Amino acid sequence: MFQLSQEGLDQVKKEMARYEAKESAIIPSLYVAQKENKGWISPEVISHLSEVMEIPSSKINEVFKFYSMFNQKPVGKYHVQICANISCCLEGGRELARHICKELKVNKDEVTPDGRFTISQVECLGSCGTAPMMQVNDRYYENLTLNLP
Ligand code: FES
Repeated sequence: MFQLSQEGLDQVKKEMARYEAKESAIIPSLYVAQKENKGWISPEVISHLSEVMEIPSSKINEVFKFYSMFNQKPVGKYHVQICANISCCLEGGRELARHICKELKVNKDEVTPDGRFTISQVECLGSCGTAPMMQVNDRYYENLTLNLP
C-alpha cells in the first residue's frame, strides 16, 4: 500500500493551496508521488492521491495517462529518455537509443536485470537546437554523439 511521507503530504497540500481549483494541483502532486514511489505511478498511488486531494481517481487517472513524464510501470534507478522527434531523429537520436539498448542488453522500456537502467524513446523534450539529446532522471544531456571506437 502506498502512502505519501509527511513531507510529500505537506507538498501536495501546499500545491493545492496555490490554486483556486484543486484539480490544478494534480500534475505537481503526481510528481511528488512518483518520486516517492521509486519513479512510477501505480494504481495504489492514484487511490491515495484521490483520498488526499478529495478528487475522483478517474480525474487523476486522466491526467496521469495523458502525460508521458509519468511512468505507468516500474523504471530503473536511471530512467534514460532519448528524444526521437524530428530534430533529434535527423541527428541520430534513434541510432543512439538502439546503441544504448544494445550495450545494456535491454529492450526499450524494460528495466536492466540489475535494476539500474530503463531506456525509453520519447517525443520532443524541448531542446531541439542541441539535438540529439536525452534526459536521465531530472538532467538533460545535449549534443550527443555515438563516438564509437
Ligand atoms: S526534437 Fe529532440 S528535443 Fe526537440
